Amino acid sequence: MTTNENLTMPAIARERLERLQAHNARIGVIGLGYVGLPLTLLLCGAGFKVTGFDIDEKKIADLQAGRSYIFRIGSDEIQQAREKGFQATADFSHISEQDAIILCVPTPLTEHREPDVSFIEKTAKSVAPWLREGQLVVLESSTYPGTTEELMIPILLDGSASGLEVQGRGPVLDKGVFYVAFSPEREDPGNMTVARKDIPKVVGGHDPIATELAATLYEAIFIKSIRVSSTRVAEMTKLLENIYRCVNIALVNELKVLSLRMGVDIWEVIDAAATKPFGFQPFYPGPGLGGHCIPIDPFYLSWKAREYDFHTRFIELAGEVNGAMPEYVVQTVGQALNRHKKALNGSRILMLGMAYKKDIDDLRESPSLTIIELLRREGAEVLYNDPFFPTVGRGRHYNLNMTCTPLERLEQYDCVLIVTDHSDYDYKEIVRSAQLVVDSRNATKGIVSDKIVRC
Ligand SMILES: NC(=O)c1ccc[n+]([C@@H]2O[C@H](COP(=O)([O-])OP(=O)(O)OC[C@H]3O[C@@H](n4cnc5c(N)ncnc54)[C@H](O)[C@@H]3O)[C@@H](O)[C@H]2O)c1
Repeated sequence: MTTNENLTMPAIARERLERLQAHNARIGVIGLGYVGLPLTLLLCGAGFKVTGFDIDEKKIADLQAGRSYIFRIGSDEIQQAREKGFQATADFSHISEQDAIILCVPTPLTEHREPDVSFIEKTAKSVAPWLREGQLVVLESSTYPGTTEELMIPILLDGSASGLEVQGRGPVLDKGVFYVAFSPEREDPGNMTVARKDIPKVVGGHDPIATELAATLYEAIFIKSIRVSSTRVAEMTKLLENIYRCVNIALVNELKVLSLRMGVDIWEVIDAAATKPFGFQPFYPGPGLGGHCIPIDPFYLSWKAREYDFHTRFIELAGEVNGAMPEYVVQTVGQALNRHKKALNGSRILMLGMAYKKDIDDLRESPSLTIIELLRREGAEVLYNDPFFPTVGRGRHYNLNMTCTPLERLEQYDCVLIVTDHSDYDYKEIVRSAQLVVDSRNATKGIVSDKIVRC
C-alpha cells in the first residue's frame, strides 16, 4: 500500500488515481441524455477515453453517426468526440474495461408523486455483472439521501462476482474492492452566464478513497471539486439547492398574485430589491414549475422524510403554490377574454412556448402541458408556437399530437398566451398584431399597451 498525502491507498486505487490525474483513464458514462452527453463531451475534451452507454438504440445510432439530438450540442462536437475515440453502445459488457463509471439516468416521480428509482435499479443491475476490482462507480442522478448506500450498493454487490467487496469506512482493503461515490449534477440548462465547467462539483464517497478518486476525476473537467464527508451529504446538498429554489419561486409566485391584485408590478419590485448587495437573491414568478429537477427533486426528500416521521411543510406548501400557477394563468386568460366579451369556451388561443423555460428544447414537466389541458377542458381551441418543437407528440404524462403553428396573422386568435419567453420572439410585433396578449413571464416588459394582461 502507498499513501496519497494522508490517505492510505492500495496499489490498485493508486494506479487508478494516477490514470485519472494523467487524463488517460477509461470512463464509462451511462445515460446519454441532457446530463450524460455534455459530461461525455467534457471528458473527451480533457483527453479521457470515453464509452457512452444507453438503452435507447436511436441515441446510440445517432451518436455513432456523429449526430446530436440535443439542441445546444452541435453535431460537430459529437464528431470531434468520435475522432478522439468516443464510442456509444448498449452493450454493458464494455463496463468491465472502464476505470470509472458514471450513472446519469433519470429519477422522475411515479403517478402517485413518489420517487421512481427504477432507472437506478435497472442500471445498477446491468453494471453489476461487469464490475471489476479497483473500479469507481459514481451516481450523478438527483435523489434522496441514502440512495447510494441503501439502494445502489446492495444491487451492485448482489450482482457482482463473488468475493468482490465495496470499500467502506472500515479497514482499507488491498484486494477485491470497488469504490462508490455520489456527485450531483448542478447544471442550469440555458444559463449562458455560467459555463458548466465553472460550476464546482460536490463529491461524497462511500469511503475516503472513493471521494479522492471521484474528486480527482471531476477536477479534470470542472473548476474544482468540493469534497464532502459522505454520499448522503452530497445527495442532500443537491436537494437543498433545488428545494431552496422551489420554495423561493413559490414565495414570489404567491406575492405576484397579491401584487397584481394590489396594482403593484412585482417584477419592478424584484428588480428594486435585487439592488440590495446582501441578504436578497432574486427569483422570478412564472406560469408554474417545469423541468426534470425543481418540480420533482423536493418530493424525493418529502417521501424519505416519512421514514423519519417527519412532514416537510415548506416543500408541500411550495408544491401547492407552484402547482396552482397553471390554473391561475388559465383563470387570467378567462378574465381577459371576458373583458373582450368573449368566453374561454370556443376561443382560439395561440400559446407561445412549450419548453419549460426560455431558449431550451426540454419539455419535461412543462407548465404549458397542464395549461393546454386546462384550456381544452374549458372548451378553448389551443394552438402553439415554439421554435424548439416542430411537433409535440406523446410523453410520460401527456399525449398531444400537435404541430407548431407559424407565428403569423396573430389577429386571427382571440388571445395570444405567453408561457415561455424565448429570446427569438419579437414581443413588440406580437403585441402590435395580436388582439389580446396574456403574459405569464413579463416578456412584454417595457411595452405599453392595453392589449397586455400580465399574470
Ligand atoms: N437535465 C438537467 O438539467 C439536470 C440537471 C441536474 C440534474 N439532473 C439529474 O440528472 C439525471 C439525468 O437527467 P437527464 O436530464 O440527463 O435525463 P435524460 O432523460 O435526458 O437522460 C437519461 C438517459 O438515460 C438513459 N437510460 C435510462 N435508463 C437507462 C438504463 N437502464 N441504462 C442506460 N441508460 C438508461 C435514457 O435513455 C436517457 O438517454 C436525473 O436524475 C436528473 O434529475 C438533470
